Amino acid sequence: MSLKDKILEFFSLKSKVQIGGSEKAVEKQKAMGKMTARDRINALLDSGSFHEYDLFVEHKGKDFGMEKKQLPADGVVTGTGTIWGRPVSIYAQDFTVAGGSLGLAHARKITKIMDHAIKMGMPLIGINDSGGARIQEGVNSLAGYGEIFYRNTLASGVIPQISVILGPCAGGAVYSPALTDFVFVVDNISKMFITGPEVIKTVLNEDISMEDLGGAKVQTEVTGNAHFYAKSELECFKQIIKLITYIPWNNKKKADTFDSKPPNQKFDIENIIPTDSRMPYDVRDIIRAFCDDSDFFEIQEKWAANIVIGFARVEGKTIGIVANQPLALAGVLDVDSSDKAARFIRFCDSFNIPLVTLVDLPGYLPGVDQEHAGVIRHGAKVLYAYSEATVPKITIIMRKAYGGGYIAMCSRHLGADFVFAWPTAEIAVMGPEGAANIIFRKEITTAEDPDAVRQEKVAEYTAKFANPYVAAANGHVDAVIEPGETRKTLIHSLHVSENKNEKHIDRKHGIAPC
Ligand code: HXC
Repeated sequence: MSLKDKILEFFSLKSKVQIGGSEKAVEKQKAMGKMTARDRINALLDSGSFHEYDLFVEHKGKDFGMEKKQLPADGVVTGTGTIWGRPVSIYAQDFTVAGGSLGLAHARKITKIMDHAIKMGMPLIGINDSGGARIQEGVNSLAGYGEIFYRNTLASGVIPQISVILGPCAGGAVYSPALTDFVFVVDNISKMFITGPEVIKTVLNEDISMEDLGGAKVQTEVTGNAHFYAKSELECFKQIIKLITYIPWNNKKKADTFDSKPPNQKFDIENIIPTDSRMPYDVRDIIRAFCDDSDFFEIQEKWAANIVIGFARVEGKTIGIVANQPLALAGVLDVDSSDKAARFIRFCDSFNIPLVTLVDLPGYLPGVDQEHAGVIRHGAKVLYAYSEATVPKITIIMRKAYGGGYIAMCSRHLGADFVFAWPTAEIAVMGPEGAANIIFRKEITTAEDPDAVRQEKVAEYTAKFANPYVAAANGHVDAVIEPGETRKTLIHSLHVSENKNEKHIDRKHGIAPC
């Protein structure tokens, strides 16, 4: 055979495999509004940058007629490419081939690309569209999942790991995403569950649709399993491309610096917080008032809305923001908001992203539900994450900072490098009403006019403690600043902490509350 004939044969073999599943399966995929695995990769990566590996890998199934089946590329496309010219490793499961189910060869293609990502220090993107462990391959499929989970864990905190859920992700298919840093879902397309509706019907005799069980809205609003929600696959890819601009390639690097842009003047930081300290406001307006171009990239927007997390830039440099949100539950810390904040803090710390914390909360949420849901151990995660973090930590106390909430929100005592307070800050063990009722109980209950005495004592307590000056007098706050000085202060603090070098006592690892 001549070289030309061999090349023609190669093209013919390659194109047969690249088509993926049967025509019917591809049609079904498209009819559901889903792109094919290769189209997804090409839409996400820089044009023409994708290099595919292991195209000709064959499955290892020998039972249930599998030995006679051809599974093109074994149902997963793997390779490397670039986004904004920055290298990424990527895999996309192909649902048109055996439902994207995971056998051993399929898994080994994924683990090979994960090993590349870890060794070469680049982000890993996994596009998941799979029926889970390939049933016909038995324990070998489970072995494959185990090998993926193992690498997800070893890669954690070393390279950013991004999971995209673009189809049903059942059984083992959801645990790899759960071990990664960011999970993206798309309306009507993404479904995540451990056991599907059929199993639930058999075991529990309950009817539930896949959408209600684990659709995109459920995962972004109820469970918190997903971090980003999009209306379409293309919108989802745009979100991923944007995320990639904020984060570094790996834990040894810093995120790229962009041109500095001033915030939009329509956000007037002096006038966002209402004069009545009981009134809410949207803390995202404060963030937009000081960050570059007023561009705030929010994460987990619809879940645990009482805390706001996300990336922004100040003078072109990425910062991670954790902020109480007075619009939701007065910004309290509870089980879910603690989980949300703690995981984000740990991500920022692993990837050299300075943390900016904006404080305005009455404390931890009281109540039997929260106590029984484990607010003690969940709340402890925030204390742990902030204390452990060695990236620059800058805290701005805007208004309320009461009780455990004051300590937890990156106080000086948990290692904050800089703590600033606005003149509106109220820093004390608890709010004036609660405090007066406890410490002046005798005076109030024995008074002729208890209400009048209560008001008097509340006013006394407010005058004494509902301000930033006691904390400033003790050095717990470094400076009281006007809200309008926030951007300038942040720029300076970030600049002077650029070479921060803090190390903790050498140990294998801590035992984080979970
Ligand atoms: C082998 C599978 C498969 C699987 C789907 N297929 N899931 N093959 N193993 N796990 C095949 C189907 O047989 C079918 O093949 C093709 O993929 C498309 O599937 P359909 O059922 O026709 O598609 P759809 O109606 O869209 O339903 C998708 C689905 C359903 C909801 C994902 O296929 C399903 O429920 N699959 C099983 C899900 C599940 O329980 N997985 C858990 C596995 S155990 P043909 O040849 O007909 O086109 C597991 C444990 C790991 O993962 C635990 C680790 C911690």
